[in-house]
Amino acid sequence: MNGQGVNGSHSNGRYAQITGWGSYVPEKILTNEALAHVVDTTDEWITSRTGIKQRHVAGNERETTAVLAARAGREALLVAGLPPSRLDLIMGATATPEYMFPSTASLVQDALGARAAGAFDLSAGCSGFLYGLNMGMAAVRSGMADHILVIGAETLSRIVDWSDRNTCVLFGDGAGAVVVSVCTDRCGVLATELGSDGSGGQLLILPAGGSHQPASLESVSSGGHFVKMNGREVFRFATTVLPKATEAVVRKAGWQLADVALVIPHQANTRIIESAAKRLNLPMDKFFINLERYGNTSAASIPIALTEAVAEGKVRPGDKLVLVGFGAGLTWAAAAVEWGVPPARTTRTFLDRLLAQLGFFFAGIRSWILRSERHAYNWAMGPVGKDDWRGHLRQRLDVWRSKVRRRFTRRD
Ligand code: UT7
Repeated sequence: MNGQGVNGSHSNGRYAQITGWGSYVPEKILTNEALAHVVDTTDEWITSRTGIKQRHVAGNERETTAVLAARAGREALLVAGLPPSRLDLIMGATATPEYMFPSTASLVQDALGARAAGAFDLSAGCSGFLYGLNMGMAAVRSGMADHILVIGAETLSRIVDWSDRNTCVLFGDGAGAVVVSVCTDRCGVLATELGSDGSGGQLLILPAGGSHQPASLESVSSGGHFVKMNGREVFRFATTVLPKATEAVVRKAGWQLADVALVIPHQANTRIIESAAKRLNLPMDKFFINLERYGNTSAASIPIALTEAVAEGKVRPGDKLVLVGFGAGLTWAAAAVEWGVPPARTTRTFLDRLLAQLGFFFAGIRSWILRSERHAYNWAMGPVGKDDWRGHLRQRLDVWRSKVRRRFTRRD
């Protein structure tokens, strides 16, 4: 897909700017040295072959994908100075959703109190966040939405086989998010490039748990619910698509490669990034790398890296950025972003934070009330359509309740 319809100059005077960003990783750190006690590996092997020194992993069962995603989303909203009630849409990119359904994005919508937002997850492996950014840009520029939250969130530690040294040393947990808002100046996400080659689907796969191999005793005992990867093939694919997607998106944005201030690539392997830099003839200091501290966090890696790059002052207003990734599918994606937010906008006062935290606290209470009310009502009224006095009463009350709920869940 070349995204031509939403790129280039057909903007209606509407552009899609990144106005908020944030990330969250679990506290628990797993170093290479600690991993060497778990599988047959060494710090030397992992560092020299990947660049990774440590990764963050969920420390308890309460640290789930939706929890990490909601925390990153809160940070992004706080930076944007946007109340959750003004979000039109929440997109969650993840390969490790909370459940098969409901979507992780819907759980985040509830946790944030984003009463007017639609929500859905998308699956495009490690490219997922950039697929979401592409859709976010298209929705904003077309006028379908004004404010969108795009999240990449993963708890890959839950799906790696901790006895498989080929994969377990690579991945980490975390979440990153951006708010994409409408603006009228020509800046923000100016062009995107998406691609897929499904013939390579088996190279990076979670084989069981879907319709092809539903969960069963056999699927569990054969390790079908763990990530399987042909590392060498994925490596070869990555070193080809990373430079190609970068060149393509730069061309679509009407830039030259030399104009690019910073490339924020998917954080999988330093050697892949070095290879892309060589092919593009760009110096390594134009590539932002933080994988030594997080490992490969799949769909979360680019928004986590973007958040850190901004915090380190490596992104300034007017800078031309390329975000580029690849992953399961096989898929690849890139976005050309002209940064438009002045640094002063990003500092929030103690009061701003306090008010935002209060808002999230009340979102939690609101969610609890809605759930409790639903339980209590169903318990008191019995089954729908029963032909007795409770059934008739329920029919009448249902009309009244839906009116009240509509009032309670509508936008301010
Ligand atoms: O987000 C997308 C997800 N995936 C990726 O981006 C991964 C892309 N691929 C890679 O990054 C690299 O292929 C890996 C880091 C996964 C592997 O590096 P490699 O240089 O391609 O190693 P290899 O698979 O060719 O394996 C070389 C050797 C093998 O031993 P033999 O067969 O040569 O005796 C492996 O068994 O290294 C061995 N090996 C290890 N040794 C120590 C593989 N994993 C480990 C390990 N520790 N953790």
